[in-house]
Amino acid sequence: MTKAVGIDIGGTGIKGAVIDTATGALLTDRIKLDTPKGGEPDDIVKVVVSIIETLAVDAEVPVGVCFPAVIIKGHTMSAANVSKKWIGLDAEKLFEKALGRDIRFINDADAAGVAEVRYGAAKDVPGVVILTTLGTGIGSALIYNGVLVPNTELGHLEVDGKDAESRASYSAKERDDLSFKEWAKRLQRYYDTVEALFSPDLIIVGGGISKSYEEFLPLLELRAPIVPAALRNNAGILGAAALAAEHRGATGHAAVAD
Ligand code: BGC
Repeated sequence: MTKAVGIDIGGTGIKGAVIDTATGALLTDRIKLDTPKGGEPDDIVKVVVSIIETLAVDAEVPVGVCFPAVIIKGHTMSAANVSKKWIGLDAEKLFEKALGRDIRFINDADAAGVAEVRYGAAKDVPGVVILTTLGTGIGSALIYNGVLVPNTELGHLEVDGKDAESRASYSAKERDDLSFKEWAKRLQRYYDTVEALFSPDLIIVGGGISKSYEEFLPLLELRAPIVPAALRNNAGILGAAALAAEHRGATGHAAVAD
């Protein structure tokens, strides 16, 4: 068994668990704490440290952390739903210093995409797969023949002159008090744009609300099949853990660019 920890930092919550990366099974309960108000670096780092302490794993267990921003060589290069202080920060180093160990650090939706390729709805699916997470923002993972193209940020496509996630994320549904039917109209506009630009063979919908997929996915009319994430809202944790284990094991798995 290859044990690894996955930590998924979101605009609203921070989740973590120990994973069996051979099967994608959770070996512990999932810990979920609120993202501190303002999403400042030091505050978020403290929450991550406390989750790792609670999970009480040995120092040699690999840790993967995923985060809602563009990540280039360990640096956070955007900050849509967290403090702007993250922009340009060597965040990977910051976490490594606080945790006293190496980590694997990637975008949250990319981690979810990797997990769906390994263990879920994108497993053995050829061609272009696009995973979107509908949460505080909209995250995306673009996968071609099982290989991730990182940092695609399709939640920030311009749709009807607006940043897509500001209209179609789950938090926009909540903010504007939309019924599923009303929200589905915005999602239709969003996924029509994604389809027009990328012609995916499969669209996967993740994020916490994906557990209620029956309420809105059947309302969407698209050329490609659109399915809920098999791993629901655990996909980020699983993907981060899987990548951390692989990184540590240096298996040379070529599924994701570093
Ligand atoms: C961020 C992405 C992130 C997504 C989901 C967006 O606002 O720009 O990096 O993947 O939210 O958390």
